[in-house]
This record gives sequence, C-alpha cells and structure tokens, in this order.
Amino acid sequence: MVHYLCFMHIDIITVLPELLESPFAHSILKRAKEKNLLDIQVHSLRHWAVNEYGQVDDYQYGGGAGMVMMCEPLANAIDSLSKKIKYDEIIYMTPDGERLNQKTANTLSLKNNLLVICGHYKGIDERIREHYVTKEISIGDYVLSGGELPAAILVDTIGRLIPGVLNNETSALFDSFQDNLLAPPVYTRPVDFRGWKVPEILLSGDPKKIDEWRNELSLEKTKDRRPDLLEE
Ligand code: ADE
Repeated sequence: MVHYLCFMHIDIITVLPELLESPFAHSILKRAKEKNLLDIQVHSLRHWAVNEYGQVDDYQYGGGAGMVMMCEPLANAIDSLSKKIKYDEIIYMTPDGERLNQKTANTLSLKNNLLVICGHYKGIDERIREHYVTKEISIGDYVLSGGELPAAILVDTIGRLIPGVLNNETSALFDSFQDNLLAPPVYTRPVDFRGWKVPEILLSGDPKKIDEWRNELSLEKTKDRRPDLLEE
C-alpha cells in the first residue's frame, strides 16, 4: 500500500457557504477528501458578524453604489482560524487579482495550508488586502457576483494536482497547459462511428509513434488557438 505524505488543508471564508456545498461533494474532490489527502472547511463569515443581524458589510466611504465587506468580521475570522493553522497563503478571489493559470495551480498544490476569502458586493475593505492577504487571484477578465465560484474553481484545479488524488498519477502531467501546450485530441470506442474513424496511428500499438503524433498535434493546436502560450 502506498502512503502519501502530502495532505492539504483549505479553509474558505464566505457569506454564502451553501454555494460551496456541491462543488466539493462529488467526483475527484470527494475522492480526495475520502482518501484524506484534502480537507476543505467552509466557514460562514456571518459567524463573525458585527451585530445580531448578521451584518458583515457597510456603505463605502466617499459614496457610490454597492456595499463593502467590513474589516472587523474578516479580521476576526482570519485571526480566529490562524490560531489553529499557520497558512502558507491567504488568498483573496477578486477580478483585479493575478490571472489564474496552470503554473499558479501547480505552485499552490505543493502548499499545505491555504485560506481562501470570497468577496461579495463591491469587494472587501482594502485594509484587509493590505494587512492579511498574501495572494490575489482572478479566474478571468469578467466579473462574477461573488468569489465563491472562483474559489471552487481554484480548489478544483489545485485539488486534482495533489499526488494520489487522480487515479493515474501521471495523467495530470498531460493536461492542457502543462508545458504550455494544449492537450491533443482523444478518442474512445467505437473505432468507427458513423464512418468517422479513429486515427490509424492510435491503433498501431507503437507507443513512440503515438507519443510523437500527440506532441505534433498538441503543438499544431497550440499554434492555431493559443500562440501566446508558445511565446511564454
Ligand atoms: N469575483 C468576482 N469576479 C471574479 C473573478 N473574475 N475572479 C475571481 N474572483 C471574482
């Protein structure tokens, strides 16, 4: 039996914990939790609300539409969780953060303890970003109504990279974006569907030739769709 030393713990702070129930309850992340390789705890920020009405946000100074998540509940939440765990990174999901890519996911998958903060409304008070947050991540150049779906995406992309999580440990190595290349096309049975045939080479049984063919198609696809990746 193989014993993996890797174990990752991820805490997530959110005003909408219900939104994060389903993404971690299925498929690969579920298996990761069952194998004790990954522990994800979702915390409701309202637990640290400033009053009995559950208030965690307020109007912004200087005027303008939209509420801002207050310092006090966030600072208390982070302080309280940090008493038990020393975080490698405190991550804030925000459209003005650094764009998430495979390289960041690879780096984060080697950490042990992460804290992820989901923003809402206009975002969180800047002072929390200055004094607590160590990394700010965007999942793309578009604005979502909150940081929960971005957090789920981040945890999914990190979680599947933890050694032992995927059945075939090498399979993540061949994902798109590892090596800055898009993945080659894949086929399964039947060999002929409505006259659409699987490329002969994949049936040849020659692993070297198949590898070469896959590399060639990866490169072609990347040149065609994402030439920017080849420049990096
Ligand atoms: N919150 C709202 N939009 C977001 C985005 N694009 N990335 C990360 N967090 C967000």
